Amino acid sequence: MAEINFSTMALRLRRTEIRELLKLTRKPGTISFGGGLPDPAIFPYDAVEAASTRAIRELGRLALQYSPTEGEPFLKEQVSAFLGRQGEKAQPDEMIIVSSSQQALDLLSKILIDPGDPVILERPSYVGTLQAFRAFGADFHSIEMDENGIRPDKLESAVASLVSKGRKPKFVYLIPDFQNPSGVNLTLQRRHEALAIASKYDLLIVEDSPYRELRFEGELIPSIRSLDTEGRVVQLKTLSKIFCPGFRLGWVTAPPEVLEKMVMAKQGTDLCTSAFVSILAAFLFKDGHIERQIEISKRLYAKKSATMIAALTEYMPKVEGLSWTRPEGGMFLWLRLPEYMNSLEMISDAIELGVAYVIGSCFYADGSGGNEMRLNHSYPSEEQIVEGVKRLSRLVERRVASGALAVG
Ligand SMILES: Cc1ncc(COP(=O)(O)O)c(C=O)c1O
Repeated sequence: MAEINFSTMALRLRRTEIRELLKLTRKPGTISFGGGLPDPAIFPYDAVEAASTRAIRELGRLALQYSPTEGEPFLKEQVSAFLGRQGEKAQPDEMIIVSSSQQALDLLSKILIDPGDPVILERPSYVGTLQAFRAFGADFHSIEMDENGIRPDKLESAVASLVSKGRKPKFVYLIPDFQNPSGVNLTLQRRHEALAIASKYDLLIVEDSPYRELRFEGELIPSIRSLDTEGRVVQLKTLSKIFCPGFRLGWVTAPPEVLEKMVMAKQGTDLCTSAFVSILAAFLFKDGHIERQIEISKRLYAKKSATMIAALTEYMPKVEGLSWTRPEGGMFLWLRLPEYMNSLEMISDAIELGVAYVIGSCFYADGSGGNEMRLNHSYPSEEQIVEGVKRLSRLVERRVASGALAVG
């Protein structure tokens, strides 16, 4: 075989532990709390079939063609109208259609990150973002969170310290709604504070918000973008969680200079997002199917989340240091184990017991944080949730017993 001289970027790429784990969870009988997948039982198959027929019959000449790199205009109009109905304004020319949010993360890295550039983000944060930014050599500065999201005091001191060393962060990356992995929301007050810090130090904020519409409890909090009066927010949205990930469809709203560079970067990546899927999605928006699906998803995930929390409360051993978040929406909760437990070390036992989760350390830029696990409630059935939590509880009990032995 030829000797292959990989690029510096290729050499930075690592296998993600999540993907490796997901392979293990395909073992028959394993209950997976691992992925961030919608429940396929509620995918609106008939509506998608009808819209795809319509896309071909009514707009086939466009649907089977390339679309503009900025995105199919019919879809952009529908997205703009949808955002308006959600109380979030964006004109079609303020957005670019992307092949889902993961592509947006890659394009943003392409246009903003040089090797060694400081990037600020929450601690923990979405593993796919770490992967995308790491490929471009980002220097991660992870900021502590609490139950109200990223800590503004810590954010400001990290920014101030970098700025004082002449290393202004390229941007602040936040997942303000039902954060992945913690399930936590950034409060309104803190959204204002994050914007004030961004304004003081003249920073860009990247707001990644795939779960926002999946709120099943409490009040909707305005997006950071909608609170911004200075044009310093890039917002990433996707149909993956609110409709279906199979479409690979999303959009980015951003200041004009950012959009222009993203369009140029996208040309080199894939020329354009699928026109067929874009037109299909535009019909689905127009006929109200996306909003209907959001309502159906919210009702189902509210039940599933409640089932998971009830099962954890009932079956988990009552030990110090064991706790979990109570999300008001989205797809995950974040379970904290006692300090002496390590969810990576526990995973092979978990697989043997027939249950899977994502290990906490995946979500830390520096690989720290061993005693947490991310649990997904949207994909498994309610019966599986209860059985999976029973298995997890057995796993934790075993560790409690061996921890007690070690201490004793
Ligand atoms: C915070 C966050 N951003 C981006 C993505 C990528 O989503 P997609 O590429 O399917 O739109 C995910 C998926 O889990 C996510 O949780």
